[in-house]
This record gives sequence, C-alpha cells and structure tokens, in this order.
Amino acid sequence: MWGGPRGSAHRRSRAACEATAGGGGCADREIDHAGKLRAGACRFITGWRYRGRVREPDEREDRPEPADSAHSGRAAGGIKEPWQADPGADKVGGGPAGSRGGPPTGIDTSVAHNARVWNYWLGGKDNYAADRAAGDHVLSLFPSIVDVARADRAFLRRAVRYMAGEAGLRQFLDIGTGLPTADNTHEVAQALAPESRVVYADNDPLVLVHARALLTSRPPGATDYVEADIREPDRILEAAAATLDLDRPVGLMLLGVLNFVLDTAEASRVVARLVEALPPGSHVAITHPTLDMGGEANAEAMAFWNENATPPITPRTVAEITGFTNGLEVLEPGVVSCAEWRPDPGELGGAPQRVAQVGIVARKP
Ligand SMILES: C[S@@+](CC[C@H](N)C(=O)[O-])C[C@H]1O[C@@H](n2cnc3c(N)ncnc32)[C@H](O)[C@@H]1O
Repeated sequence: MWGGPRGSAHRRSRAACEATAGGGGCADREIDHAGKLRAGACRFITGWRYRGRVREPDEREDRPEPADSAHSGRAAGGIKEPWQADPGADKVGGGPAGSRGGPPTGIDTSVAHNARVWNYWLGGKDNYAADRAAGDHVLSLFPSIVDVARADRAFLRRAVRYMAGEAGLRQFLDIGTGLPTADNTHEVAQALAPESRVVYADNDPLVLVHARALLTSRPPGATDYVEADIREPDRILEAAAATLDLDRPVGLMLLGVLNFVLDTAEASRVVARLVEALPPGSHVAITHPTLDMGGEANAEAMAFWNENATPPITPRTVAEITGFTNGLEVLEPGVVSCAEWRPDPGELGGAPQRVAQVGIVARKP
C-alpha cells in the first residue's frame, strides 16, 4: 500500500522529479528506453494516477479478479493502477506492441509478468499494456534496469561463446530462458559449433507460446523446450535427457532466474541438484540482481514489483550469490558485475558500464 515504503518512494520520486523539472527538466525525459526517447513520459508531472489519489468514473468496485489472483497485485477496493490493465484491454490494438490481435488463450494480460517486462526492457514487442506500465514504473524507480537487461544479454553472448569456444561444450541447458530475442543461447552456440544441442526451460506460458522461435535449429544441432519450474530440477533433467547426453559436459545457464526462488536454501538445493546431475567439465553461468554494486534503488523497485506484478523477486548479496558456486571452480575474473565479465574490447564504446547484476561462470571440477 502507498502508506508503506512504496508510498514514501513515490513521494520522494515525485519531489525529486518536480525539483528537476523546476531546474530545467525531468530526468525521465532523458531516458533512452529501448532506443526511444520518452519525451513527456514523466508520470509525476503529467498526472498518472496513483492508489487512493484519483478514481476514474469507469473504475468499478466489482471488477473481477484475474484467474491467478493469488498474486494478482490488483489494488484493494477496485481502484485501478496505471500498471493494471483491464482483462481484455489487450484484445483490440493493445496487445503485444505493434500488434492488433488479442493475447493467446490462457495468457493473463491484466498483471505484469516478468518474461514480458524483460522483453519490454530489451526493446521487444511481446508484451502487453500492464507489462509496459509496470516496466515504466520500475524504470522510474531504478533507471538502470534497462542497462541491467542489456548487460545480462551481452553476458549471455560472451559466456556461451566462451563455453562453446574455449571450453569446447556442445550441450546447453538454459533454465529461465525468457522470450526469444536476439542471440538466443542456441544461436550463439551454433554460430561457433553447429552441432550444439540446447534445451530451454521456463515456466511462463507466453514463453511456451513463442518457443517455436527457439526451435529453429537444423541438424547436426538440436533444440528442445520444456515448460517447467526451476524448483523441479529432476523433472527438467529428465526432460532434458531426451535431447542432451547428460554423461557429457553441459553448459548450465541460470540467468536472471534464481532470483525468483525466494528462499536461498531452496535456490542452493536447486543449483546443487542440477550440478550433481552433470559430469565434470560442465559449466554453470549465473546472473542475479543484487543491491550491492550500486543497486540500492532496486529495493524500492522490487518492493513495487512484488506488490503489483508476478512472479515475486528477491535480490541477494554478492556473498549469497557466490554461495551458489560451492564446490565449483569460479573462472576469472571471478564474481563481478555481469557487464565486467570478460567484456569484448570496445564493448559499449569503452569501459563496460557496471550494473547491479552479478555475473559468474564456474566449472565443475
Ligand atoms: C529476467 S528473465 C531472464 C531471461 C533470460 N534468462 C535472460 O537472461 O535474458 C527471467 C525468466 O525466468 C523465468 N522464470 C521465473 N521464475 C521461474 C521459475 N520458477 N521456473 C522457471 N522459469 C522461471 C521467467 O518466466 C523469465 O522468462
């Protein structure tokens, strides 16, 4: 509720925003989000509505809850937030950016989902009004989130290139895949080694809908997709074994997904079980948000997310994230911001911009 931490976050943000505007302009106007200058997008100045402030005539008290209301994030009292689209609002012209069709059957577009908001921050089109609104609000609280998303994908490219190149891996298991975008794991690996075999796993229903874009590999390579929750590692391993030879080394990709396993002991057990099932020579790549490395503002953004979007997320300390590599050899340069993990010469036009997302590649001895 706004009386809690988010309320004070809003007041501070608004004050900061107005102060900046009084001094010549709002910082929001400077944000180059997904390559677009969002001129005039400042919601504090342009009158976006917040809980308890303004009720629109069309906002009915008896608005039905979405099917998955266990974590619906819908405001109490039927007051609609900017990031809470009407169920059905995406049916005509409000669907994935640029589309005019409705959402696929079974997709709840009324509440922001992580895979779709991540897609939005990366400049993709597979997202809906509620995703874009929540994504914009997170951006207003934690402006570097777009840099985090881009740095995470750049890390994926470099880590997979290393594993398929120097480490000689030909098999990958990518859990928490996300919606297809540029340079998916199989594309990076197969550019170096066309025979690479890749299994993707995610639990978001829209990722399943778009999975065919991940299944484009031709012989000698192969790709497969498993709809599964990372908290069921044995089910993922069993399904992956249909495509991967688990007696040969595998590159395990856990990018931006352990942060959705809220209990650290459970997340550690998941990683340990996955690693246990893979032979020596396998590698594990991890990215994970942290409030260290300049990520302090993400605390408010995550509190907002956890009240208004799904699934709930948690940051971890660098020490906690490092704990996921127990028993593994962490490769150079160690546990760093993912932007600083073996950056390509000249990447981003100079020194890599540090982001509050840990990146690690480790090897099973
Ligand atoms: C931040 S995105 C990261 C996507 C991709 N790995 C990347 O780094 O660009 C997190 C992904 O994890 C998925 N995810 C969240 N919780 C999950 C769970 N419990 N099991 C499997 N996937 C999950 C989401 O659906 C989303 O696609």
